[in-house]
Amino acid sequence: MSQVPEFAANQARHMMQCWSSQEGYAPIPVERVEGCWIHTTDGRRIFDLRSAHECINLGFNHPKVLAALKRQLDTVAYVTDDFATEPTGQLARRLAELTPGSPDKKVYFAQSGAAAVEAAIKAARQFQYHRMFHEGGLTQSDAPSQYPYPYKIISRYKSWHGSTSGAASVSGDPRRWFQEPLTVPGVVFAPEANAYRPPFGDGETMVEENLNYLDYIIENEGGSNKVAAVLVEPVVGSNGIIPAPPGYLEGVRRLCDQWGLLMIVDETMTGMGRTGKLLAIEHSGVEPDIIIMGKALGAYCPLTATIFSSKVARSFDHHLFGHGQSYSGHALGCAGALAALEVLVEDGLLDEVAAKSRHLENRLRKLAAKHPCVGDVRGLGLFFTLELVADPATGRPLRKTTEKYEPTLVHEIAQFLFHERDIYVPSDKFGIWVVPPLVVQLSEIDWFCDAIDEALTRVDRRLGL
Ligand SMILES: Cc1ncc(COP(=O)(O)O)c(C=O)c1O
Repeated sequence: MSQVPEFAANQARHMMQCWSSQEGYAPIPVERVEGCWIHTTDGRRIFDLRSAHECINLGFNHPKVLAALKRQLDTVAYVTDDFATEPTGQLARRLAELTPGSPDKKVYFAQSGAAAVEAAIKAARQFQYHRMFHEGGLTQSDAPSQYPYPYKIISRYKSWHGSTSGAASVSGDPRRWFQEPLTVPGVVFAPEANAYRPPFGDGETMVEENLNYLDYIIENEGGSNKVAAVLVEPVVGSNGIIPAPPGYLEGVRRLCDQWGLLMIVDETMTGMGRTGKLLAIEHSGVEPDIIIMGKALGAYCPLTATIFSSKVARSFDHHLFGHGQSYSGHALGCAGALAALEVLVEDGLLDEVAAKSRHLENRLRKLAAKHPCVGDVRGLGLFFTLELVADPATGRPLRKTTEKYEPTLVHEIAQFLFHERDIYVPSDKFGIWVVPPLVVQLSEIDWFCDAIDEALTRVDRRLGL
């Protein structure tokens, strides 16, 4: 056994690990990182199949991003937003131009996805407040307005928007239960849209019935006098990589327009090329009112963005934007993000995703056909999962939302991949995540698919399938 370096021992002893009981925390000491690979101090070379929780779409240590960060460090790392810097101004403009809708947008910068979600929720409520009181009052006389302005946020079950109070409150995820009943008021949950396990309807009627129920929720929550916004992940991330079925996001947009609500899309996990376009919402052609970006945006720096359409941004021209925090618009983070956008858009990395995606999907579909424990393959771009099932005949899920967390087959597979094949893929509750950095090579896709094949063969054999 090699000696644990002192820094790793310090981290184990003094750092709180996310979402874990702390006993047994044993972070793996890292020597260096490059591309899809993590090199450890004891000589292992580990492939990161989760792209560092979707934060390193460009792979680790992309030279162009590192050079931009070093250049920026030599000039200005940070000033407040009373001052302007080249990367902060440029990035705000680029995001306004590259995202769907008129380029006359405005961007609020924060440092975590959760903080960006908080900004979106607060801005949506403040927008409705301005609309009601200062810009002509109600748009429809559909419900009495005892409370002075529309404040409710409709989010969805099987969603995750972050761990701060507001973000967790709009999350349809068991992790929200850690803070219940002290959640932020005014949140209502609609059903998710999942083609594999539709909560409503089937086949062709699935999307229509789901949207009819969303319409019913909006109406019964007080319509445009009470509801401020609908919040969706265009591809559900943490709760199982679930792409929106065709027509669903367009239908949400239609309902938001009919009722005068804002449509907020959370692209924290799906942005920055993860699904083959800069944003996942672009696959639908929908123009949201508010877009949230995070994770890979900052390219190695904590930087997130809440992007307001012209309509929303204009409502703050003469009214206070009642939100803010230290380090907004951090110049160093913005320099990293600008370089990352350049690699994706100008250098053409985004254009490479389609071919890699086809190759990956083809391999995964073959694995699903071969292994009975795989219930579903789904995803977009380089954002895929193999959902495993407890019973291939009925498709019974490995675990229901309310069931106590126990390690499942997924954990067993993750352990095999990590210990036997040097592939890091933190296990989740229902599926194997296949989310490599966008710089992955086709040969690397073949190599990790072969390893997953081996792992599934062992599981099938053990289950007698
Ligand atoms: C869709 C989505 N929104 C928000 C968040 C929260 O981001 P952060 O962990 O940076 O606060 C996440 C994190 O996984 C996410 O997937």
